[in-house]
Amino acid sequence: MDVFETIRSRRSIRAFTGEDVSDEQIEKILEAARWAPSAGNLQPWEFIIIRRPEIKREVARAALNQTFIEEAPVVIVVCANEIRSGSVYGSRGMNLYCIQDTAAAIENMLLAACALGLGACWVGAFNEEEVRRILKIPKGVRPVAIIPIGHPAEKPAPPRRRTLKEIMHYETF
Ligand SMILES: Cc1cc2nc3c(=O)[nH]c(=O)nc-3n(C[C@H](O)[C@H](O)[C@H](O)COP(=O)(O)O)c2cc1C
Repeated sequence: MDVFETIRSRRSIRAFTGEDVSDEQIEKILEAARWAPSAGNLQPWEFIIIRRPEIKREVARAALNQTFIEEAPVVIVVCANEIRSGSVYGSRGMNLYCIQDTAAAIENMLLAACALGLGACWVGAFNEEEVRRILKIPKGVRPVAIIPIGHPAEKPAPPRRRTLKEIMHYETF
């Protein structure tokens, strides 16, 4: 699959078969994540890999009961290290760059999962304080996304995208 095909065919997957995902596959996904661009090459991302059912369940509950999360064999919680970005770029680093950098890493993960024939979903709706407590995330590190990863048990139709005409602005907005 070339990069354009992968970008086009990636879908948010919210149903998984019981089949496991290997540690090698997870490493490949995180290898893709760590090659994302980041402001000043600070790489302010941290990844929490969860396989234990009781922790997945708690995380799913903290994510407004999105129960498909706990059905995935692996759940990765991606965090932004605000201190790392803030140490060089101050408040812009803490509030913007570390989130943008982490988002770039997440997209690489989703594309890598798709290229491996796996399914994943970017879950952003969750109670941050709850997730922080469950996963013992220290101050200065912010949980940004929950990514369940597994073998897809669904093939969703592509949701509509805004057309190029709608989003392109020439010279000025
Ligand atoms: C920042 C962000 C937060 C999201 N949060 C959720 C979520 O909490 N639950 C969910 O099921 N999908 C979530 N999604 C997935 C979107 O619903 C999905 O990407 C969008 O509908 C387009 O579908 P596609 O990914 O299949 O192209 C989120 C996506 C992003 C980028």
